[in-house]
Amino acid sequence: MTLLDSPDGELTMKALMCSALVVLTCLVLLSSRPEKKGPVPQYNQKGELLRPADYREWMFLSAGYGMNYSPGPDSHELFTNVFVQRWAYDEFGRSGKWPEQSMFVIDERDAASRSSINQKGHYQTDLMGLAVEVKDSARNSDKWAYYVFTPDGQTAGAMPKGNPCWSCHDAHAAVEHTFVQFYPTLKVVAKKYGTYNESREQVTDAK
Ligand code: HEC
Repeated sequence: MTLLDSPDGELTMKALMCSALVVLTCLVLLSSRPEKKGPVPQYNQKGELLRPADYREWMFLSAGYGMNYSPGPDSHELFTNVFVQRWAYDEFGRSGKWPEQSMFVIDERDAASRSSINQKGHYQTDLMGLAVEVKDSARNSDKWAYYVFTPDGQTAGAMPKGNPCWSCHDAHAAVEHTFVQFYPTLKVVAKKYGTYNESREQVTDAK
């Protein structure tokens, strides 16, 4: 009598086949599952936005130096580095549009010039603050919301309705609320999909 002929052997065989089936089903399910979209904006119970911890690992769009839309008398020149989540960047690459829950971070850095062997030009130093913009129609009746974080701030409330962030972005940005006119790699994409507003390149006073 072989093992398979014995009642115990048959049971073992059935159990083995069952587990193989379970593993196979799991594999099929895993491979057909849509890729997880993340990170997405996270909020606390008060509805404040949580500081996106890993934004420096997101897609880098561009840097500005001393960009200023309201020249104040003593305005100190800062660097601005703009980041967006990679999954949102990928979707933009396929459509020229921003998906819901796209989130943009400007990391504002102080600028210095003379140190070590550097004689001219400017390099980036301390973090001065973060400016964040989120596209989230489910949460904001105005679709786009704006937040400001202090250098160490962990949460930020949305700027109230009628804030200058929203108005300036609405009036002057080339793609939806984003300043794609200043992001060279995105500009070509938006032009290809016809989502680029050329008139927003005209030199104008932001007021
Ligand atoms: C007077 C116009 C103006 C105002 C007001 C303004 N921004 Fe912007 N914003 C810009 C311009 C121009 C850029 C692109 C230049 C850059 O990269 O710095 C930009 C870029 C951004 C970006 C990067 C994504 C994008 O939309 O291109 C974020 C995030 C952002 N601003 C947040 C804010 C927040 C938060 C406020 C309010 C506290 C604010 N902005 C107020 C003009 C403005």
